[in-house]
Amino acid sequence: MARDLFEAARAAMAKSHSPYSQFPVGAALRTDDGRIYAGCNIEVISYPEGWCAETTALSQFVMGGGGHITEIAVIAEKKAAVTPCGGCRQRLAEFAGPDTRLHLCDTGGIVETTTLADLFPRGFEAEVLK
Ligand code: THU
Repeated sequence: MARDLFEAARAAMAKSHSPYSQFPVGAALRTDDGRIYAGCNIEVISYPEGWCAETTALSQFVMGGGGHITEIAVIAEKKAAVTPCGGCRQRLAEFAGPDTRLHLCDTGGIVETTTLADLFPRGFEAEVLK
């Protein structure tokens, strides 16, 4: 069912620009109207200036029209079931809900499915600014 999302994440990972960490990552997001956006991690020689695969995918998603994310897949070439970093969890939570499925993958497919709420409980929420 989520195989297409996994395939999109894996294809994105193949485009990773990660010559410094040698740790390619791919991510793919599905919207509630069926669109898929994917991204890879992109590193630069000034290390802090690089960014994660999830952030690239979110950028594609916003530029493609945005909306609501229902499903996320993340894959790393060298680590099975890699989870999004803290900053990316906050970024994903901006456009996804607590019930959003998060598929953790290895290079062969999805190995675990969890939710954003499970990975990112008690995040910083917009209500605090009101
Ligand atoms: N990375 C991601 O792309 N996503 C994550 O959630 C964790 C880390 C990347 C950043 C960096 O290019 C490489 O993995 C090693 O940290």
